[in-house]
Amino acid sequence: MVVDMRYCRVQPLGACTIALVFLQSFVFAGNQGQNEEYLCSTSHLDPSSAFSAKASSTITVAVASSPSSSPTCSSNATTFHLSDPPYENYFYSDCHSSSHVVVTSPLSNSNLEIIGPRLLIAWPAGNSGVVAFFEPQNGANGSLAIQLENSTTTGQTLDPVYIPSKSSSGTPRVGISGFINFNDSAVLTVPILGSIRTIRDFTEGPSILITYIQDAIEFSDISNGGVSLNRTWLDNSTTTYLDFIPAQSAGSIKINRAINTTLQFEAGTYQFAASFDYPQLEQLSPPEVLNSAAQGLIRQSPDQTTSLSFLSYTKKLLAGTWRFLTYFGRDSMLSLLLMQDILSEGSGGAIEAVIGAVLERVNRTDGSACHEETIGDYATYLNHLENVTSTAPQCDYKMIDTDYYLPIVLKNYFVNTPIGKTRSRSFLNTKATVLVENAGLTYADLALIEAEKIMNSSAAFAAERGQTKENLIHLKTGQIVGEWRDSTYGIGGGRIPYDVNTALVPAALRAIAKLAGAGFFPSHPEWNETADMYAKVWEDETLKFFEVTIPRQTAISLITSYINASSFPGPSHTSNITSDIIFHGLALDGNNDQPIIRVMNTDDCFRLFLLNTTNQPQLSAFLDQTAEHILQPFPVGLSSPVGLFVANPAFGGDAVYAANWTNAAYHGTVVWSWQLAMTAAGLARQLGRCNDTSSPIPDFCTNANLHNKILSAYTHLWDLIDANSAQLSGEVWSWVYNNGFQVEPLGALPPPPGSSPTESDIRQLWSLTFLAVQREEF
Ligand SMILES: *[C@@H]1O[C@H](CO)[C@@H](O)[C@H](O)[C@H]1NC(C)=O
Ligand SMILES: *[C@@H]1O[C@H](CO)[C@@H](O)[C@H](O)[C@H]1NC(C)=O
Ligand SMILES: *[C@@H]1O[C@H](CO)[C@@H](O)[C@H](O)[C@H]1NC(C)=O
Ligand SMILES: *[C@@H]1O[C@H](CO)[C@@H](O)[C@H](O)[C@H]1NC(C)=O
Ligand SMILES: *[C@@H]1O[C@H](CO)[C@@H](O)[C@H](O)[C@H]1NC(C)=O
Ligand SMILES: *[C@@H]1O[C@H](CO)[C@@H](O)[C@H](O)[C@H]1NC(C)=O
Ligand SMILES: *[C@@H]1O[C@H](CO)[C@@H](O)[C@H](O)[C@H]1NC(C)=O
Ligand SMILES: *[C@@H]1O[C@H](CO)[C@@H](O)[C@H](O)[C@H]1NC(C)=O
Ligand SMILES: *[C@@H]1O[C@H](CO)[C@@H](O)[C@H](O)[C@H]1NC(C)=O
Ligand SMILES: *[C@@H]1O[C@H](CO)[C@@H](O)[C@H](O)[C@H]1NC(C)=O
Ligand SMILES: *[C@@H]1O[C@H](CO)[C@@H](O)[C@H](O)[C@H]1NC(C)=O
Ligand SMILES: *[C@@H]1O[C@H](CO)[C@@H](O)[C@H](O)[C@H]1NC(C)=O
Repeated sequence: MVVDMRYCRVQPLGACTIALVFLQSFVFAGNQGQNEEYLCSTSHLDPSSAFSAKASSTITVAVASSPSSSPTCSSNATTFHLSDPPYENYFYSDCHSSSHVVVTSPLSNSNLEIIGPRLLIAWPAGNSGVVAFFEPQNGANGSLAIQLENSTTTGQTLDPVYIPSKSSSGTPRVGISGFINFNDSAVLTVPILGSIRTIRDFTEGPSILITYIQDAIEFSDISNGGVSLNRTWLDNSTTTYLDFIPAQSAGSIKINRAINTTLQFEAGTYQFAASFDYPQLEQLSPPEVLNSAAQGLIRQSPDQTTSLSFLSYTKKLLAGTWRFLTYFGRDSMLSLLLMQDILSEGSGGAIEAVIGAVLERVNRTDGSACHEETIGDYATYLNHLENVTSTAPQCDYKMIDTDYYLPIVLKNYFVNTPIGKTRSRSFLNTKATVLVENAGLTYADLALIEAEKIMNSSAAFAAERGQTKENLIHLKTGQIVGEWRDSTYGIGGGRIPYDVNTALVPAALRAIAKLAGAGFFPSHPEWNETADMYAKVWEDETLKFFEVTIPRQTAISLITSYINASSFPGPSHTSNITSDIIFHGLALDGNNDQPIIRVMNTDDCFRLFLLNTTNQPQLSAFLDQTAEHILQPFPVGLSSPVGLFVANPAFGGDAVYAANWTNAAYHGTVVWSWQLAMTAAGLARQLGRCNDTSSPIPDFCTNANLHNKILSAYTHLWDLIDANSAQLSGEVWSWVYNNGFQVEPLGALPPPPGSSPTESDIRQLWSLTFLAVQREEF
């Protein structure tokens, strides 16, 4: 092994202590003076791994190591760079750890209220991270530019930090190092070390800092003009470190301890290293996350498969990076639903990682599936707020939709696939270990508790004369969100969401019937029939509650008022309206006494993708209006050159609609990648029924006009998807209108009043689904 000269400084030989556990040889090779003596360290800036050496010699040093891990990885690191100005994203993964580094540097046209110079490091383990916010020391606001430079010794943008623990049972310190350049003198104003959630509280809060967490940061000068920051977590054992040292000829860093401590840098390049000693997750490499038939994707789509791997671990898949680098039930199950054909099966594979992660976190008391998990330092913080001294993870059970995805993914794998069938017995016998509350329960117990919740809560509506609004599934009391449109005005304050009631409930019931038929619920064999019976009622009797029909003339005048209220500068396309406008509203019982939220939307995709309904007139009418929305340009329909908008508020008839569903709102007139994927996959499933001779052929297949209209919608949708391939791996994107629609990052638009700017994740798990969803021929 060659000594990395970055870790060496000219030094008089001095004493250094080395823990003797693991011996390693280094060739000491540098362009340095032959007789000079150096103080080096094996991987980074940790004095305890230091050794001294003479130039051009071969030396053997001792490096402390835990018995199970070797300081070097047997396979190469995976690295990639994604540029999304003003954000530069760098990823590094090896056998020890995974890191995402985001460098933000304002552009000449950046909104300086939102964008400032920032170095952020995100780690999946413990949903942990580090951020440093910089300001110009003397120059004007906006003049400080920062960027990473490649290492002059390794040629890499990022190099690993790996410092074995001093104790044989300890956790190694892992992380990342690189070189950051400042074009001018700079001040590090706010560092945050610990949890990504603490960092999000600051960036989105906005500006929330927890004093006792900030006050725990220790600042100290280190050799060669460097500065070291560390903070020990609330668990009293994990520590996050952030070190800077001048590289090349850059000046020393000064610590300014007035009020809140800041660091002063001169113009130039500094080496940084960010690390922490927390147990790491086991990542699924690209070949491990994909099944054998899909291995070719690694070459065809290296960006997406590497991104998928970055978010995939043996025990769970994570929702996105950097903001949602933790377990999310909905995100992982939707991704599995759309990508099952390419994901690895069997023990240790991606599919079982998703399903196991959801089962582990089911609330044993009421059967709710967990939406988001809080782990690491933020979990200890939340426990502390409740006066509990504990590092135990916390689960958020406020969503209502997550429950329904679970039986569907269970059925798709354990009933529908050969490998799943052989795995079900040992998988179901697995004992839960993640939540202390679930200790002693098996995955079978948790699946049953969850299915009981669905059966019990859907029974009233399925009963004779039970088809009332009251018996539909409502958001939980006190919650204003409950399904994927989980921003404040996502479903307009509605209590009874469209997607859950018309698609997720019946699809989950169909799945429970199949699972029961396969012997999954020995205490409820009768569900093989009762769940199907319930499902039929939910399929056929729910749509009508959500139907909105607007006469042609009214629709034209509503669009005209919308254009005035929203200042939409594009064409109205009202001449396209030749008949009533029909759609299904986002939810019932909304804000401002709206009985139904009159927002046209893409949530038809759930029914298309998850159900093969058999009420023929209803199915034909449903497909007709879905196809119409896809074909018609916004604001008549959902189509735009940048993709389908997930919401079109033009028919609301109340100024609140134009104000709440804007192109700057998370669930406004914006485009979501996975909604495009599910709409495309859903249309393909429905069109596929026309050629599936194992079931009765639906009526729409033999109605030539309607079948052609659905085919045209499918083709048009794929043309939009192909035209936006550059955006597809992002979570959500928006637009500006300038002689036509132009793609604009959502985070670059000023947020609606009362909400904070939404920086989108550069990579989101459910935005990688086009790896599996492809245009089909019909
Ligand atoms: C930079 O300018 C923006 C926009 O005026 C402002 O919000 C921000 O606080 C300024 N930052 C500093 C460090 O002055
Ligand atoms: C760093 O190296 C990569 C190739 O490894 C190169 O593409 C990139 O431009 C270099 N970056 C800088 C800032 O020189
Ligand atoms: C110092 O930090 C605290 C949080 O620890 C913050 O609330 C306060 O505003 C900061 N003060 C200044 C002057 O930046
Ligand atoms: C953190 O830094 C302080 C100040 O340099 C030092 O005394 C302390 O030992 C460090 N903590 C850890 C866990 O390394
Ligand atoms: C950490 O140490 C502090 C001070 O001794 C103590 O109050 C706190 O309960 C400890 N936290 C945990 C999670 O053990
Ligand atoms: C689990 O559900 C029960 C019953 O609804 C509730 O009281 C409890 O708080 C939930 N557990 C957690 C951790 O939220
Ligand atoms: C925690 O303890 C503090 C101080 O005793 C008290 O004010 C607060 O209400 C407690 N919080 C909870 C959630 O019990
Ligand atoms: C449901 O299971 C029972 C046995 O438990 C069986 O007799 C019945 O035929 C099944 N129904 C269907 C529709 O498969
Ligand atoms: C809608 O109107 C535009 C012109 O405004 C036209 O190009 C387009 O073909 C029409 N689309 C449909 C589906 O009628
Ligand atoms: C959105 O609608 C709610 C309820 O009507 C209202 O309180 C809120 O102000 C609206 N938001 C905006 C940005 O107009
Ligand atoms: C619906 O039918 C299509 C075509 O046969 C099939 O691909 C799809 O899996 C079916 N969906 C369900 C939920 O059974
Ligand atoms: C599938 O079914 C449709 C509608 O019945 C028909 O037009 C088409 O030719 C069929 N395609 C194939 C490949 O059989």
